[in-house]
Amino acid sequence: MLTNKRIVIIGGSSGIGLETARLTLEKGAEVIIASRSEKKLKEAKDSLQGEVTIFTLDVTDEIQVKNFFEKIGQIDHLVITAAETSSGLFLETEVDVARQLFNNKFWGQYLCVKYGAPHLTKGGSITLFSGIVAYKAMVGSAVLGSVNAAVASLGQTLALELAPIRVNVISPGIIDTPSRSKMSDEARNQFYEGMASKLPVEKVGKAKDVASGVYYLIKNHFVTGTVLHIDGGHILI
Ligand SMILES: NC(=O)c1ccc[n+]([C@@H]2O[C@H](COP(=O)([O-])OP(=O)(O)OC[C@H]3O[C@@H](n4cnc5c(N)ncnc54)[C@H](OP(=O)(O)O)[C@@H]3O)[C@@H](O)[C@H]2O)c1
Repeated sequence: MLTNKRIVIIGGSSGIGLETARLTLEKGAEVIIASRSEKKLKEAKDSLQGEVTIFTLDVTDEIQVKNFFEKIGQIDHLVITAAETSSGLFLETEVDVARQLFNNKFWGQYLCVKYGAPHLTKGGSITLFSGIVAYKAMVGSAVLGSVNAAVASLGQTLALELAPIRVNVISPGIIDTPSRSKMSDEARNQFYEGMASKLPVEKVGKAKDVASGVYYLIKNHFVTGTVLHIDGGHILI
């Protein structure tokens, strides 16, 4: 159980972050969720039960990140699922678009750890998010793959530097979340069906599958510096 534990989930208004909020609340934690959209945060809060606080925060804004952690004070666990990702062929991707991706997913997590770590209790943990395209090259994912690889490397080094705070990284495979809401229903279903037919587990993942991985990393005091692959065997095919 996570009674009397304060957990911050940045990106907690949607997908994996929201399911992590739901699970850790069920386990008795006090949960703070943060992301850019107040509307999404309010909807998320309405869908949750328990002690939840919401904060608007853009992780690409260093001052906002610094002020956020100063405002919330001491915490036990930090989970960062915040990301807005995109794909595209390397030669056809504008350099600015590539930089934006790093800015959001890599530098966002970097800033959250930089300003969040000093507020963590000694037995605390940090969970960062990488992703399958760091480990399985895919056409159109040169930039996102590089971002994800950078996050994984950052997490492993920080497990040494920030010890005894534990730092771990999750690498999700294809998970059905609102991150693909811009695709048409037909295109998204086709993508998921095609992927499911190739995966050893014969299905794509759900946000809950990854949330249970976050819970494991928060709870297991002997796990640090690991990259937990929650990908239905995607890395093997
Ligand atoms: N779903 C997959 O198939 C998959 C695969 C591999 C890796 N992953 C990784 O898993 C993590 C979670 O993904 P997900 O599928 O749960 O995504 P999601 O449903 O799109 O949720 C992303 C969250 O990040 C927030 N966010 C985005 N940019 C932000 C910013 N600049 N500052 C603060 N918050 C920001 C969003 O809320 P606002 O819009 O309100 O800011 C939202 O709450 C990400 O790192 C993603 O790359 C996912």
